[in-house]
Amino acid sequence: MKKWIRGGTVVTAADTYQADVLIEGERVVAIGYNLDTAGAEEIDATGCYILPGGIDPHTHLDMPFGGTVTSDNFFTGTKAAAFGGTTSIVDFCLTNKGESLQSAIATWHEKARGKAVIDYGFHLMVSDANDQVLDELASVVANEGITSLKVFMAYKNVLMADDETLFKTLIRAKEIGALVQVHAENGDVIDYLTKKALAEGNTDPIYHAYTRPPEAEGEATGRAIALTALASAQLYVVHVSCADAVRRIAEAREKGWNIYGETCPQYLVLDIEDLDRPDFEGAKYVWSPPLREKWNQEVLWSALKNGILQTVGSDHCPFNFVGQKELGRDDFTKIPNGGPIIEDRLTLLFSEGVQKGKISLNQLVDLTSTKAAKLFGMFPQKGTVAVGSDADLVLFHPNVKRTISASTHHMNVDYNPFEGMEVQGEVVSVLSRGSFVVRDKQFVGQAGAGRYLKRSRFTRP
Ligand code: URP
Ligand code: ZN
Ligand code: ZN
Repeated sequence: MKKWIRGGTVVTAADTYQADVLIEGERVVAIGYNLDTAGAEEIDATGCYILPGGIDPHTHLDMPFGGTVTSDNFFTGTKAAAFGGTTSIVDFCLTNKGESLQSAIATWHEKARGKAVIDYGFHLMVSDANDQVLDELASVVANEGITSLKVFMAYKNVLMADDETLFKTLIRAKEIGALVQVHAENGDVIDYLTKKALAEGNTDPIYHAYTRPPEAEGEATGRAIALTALASAQLYVVHVSCADAVRRIAEAREKGWNIYGETCPQYLVLDIEDLDRPDFEGAKYVWSPPLREKWNQEVLWSALKNGILQTVGSDHCPFNFVGQKELGRDDFTKIPNGGPIIEDRLTLLFSEGVQKGKISLNQLVDLTSTKAAKLFGMFPQKGTVAVGSDADLVLFHPNVKRTISASTHHMNVDYNPFEGMEVQGEVVSVLSRGSFVVRDKQFVGQAGAGRYLKRSRFTRP
């Protein structure tokens, strides 16, 4: 079956040009004009950009966390992702101390099997770098195609690993070709500050931010970078939220070190004042790291523009307000951390970034697709519009204005942190490996059509 996408503007990380795109089966087979379209289904893309499908490198679907479970599973979450122009995700597979890595990975495969509507891969959390784990990691990379590992430097007594674990993971990652990711916040300091706040009777959501200051993120970012340099390894700092962390990444990159960083739409658009909303509404804005003072946003945008940060992930980690965020009504430490973003990542970046001149259209593609494909071993199969690449394509209309709302979104969650925000740009249709998942804003995908992505070893992009 051939498909002929006609009349659109192809946008990649490098180029913007008018061309038709011909798809045969799962791949793009030709780009240009006067293509051999005999027998092809014609798809009118007039007025639309033809973008490579978004790659969201940071999602938490069906994940136990904070005494509850994220409200999107691999069906609802990937469906919402597709509506937002994302055709691949890399989800975080959690591990428990003492459990074999294979068993944790099997659990995550089970969560996704028969549900995902777009392609998906896994990052693997390392919580304990004992000899058995370090041994097993080689086969995780070689056989499972899991080429990115995650170490939490925060969430003391839950997910947090110590420096020895991080350092051993970095050394092993260097040997086996994996990229190490860190949640960089100083968990010990945060633990002290949260206990102190509660002891003083400070229980409101805003104390989430006061007890996780930017210095705690900056310090952990700097420490992770130093350990990476010592191990001659490679590091990707997830959800960078503040100027202090950006500065440390910039300094490391100036030295030529193998350090990468991601930020998320929430840090670019929302700020600490959202945590102070009345009637416990602030709980909807509890992320870790927390939302920062507004001035940090300009630093993050400029880091994206100047290549200090390479990607924008969603950190999609949704919890309903009713029954889940409410767990922390009397104690901010019991509010499950995270929010729903998977669907709005591309539009927010286009509307707030490209439309306002903060990043270029080609940078939008690079930040939401191409760089993630390169860093996480999926390029050139994913992350670009090119002959031979998977036909993961998004038809995006740049001129449509709409209002973000929980009443129209597709995420399985009862609020949207960007409720009422007017944005420009709309995903019209989405193809995953040549098949429509969303067509003219209607879902036409299939649970289970998404394929597990075995990814290549890390190579420096
Ligand atoms: O608040 C957040 N970021 N929740 C998701 C888990 C994590 O730390 O990425
Ligand atoms: Zn995190
Ligand atoms: Zn996360």
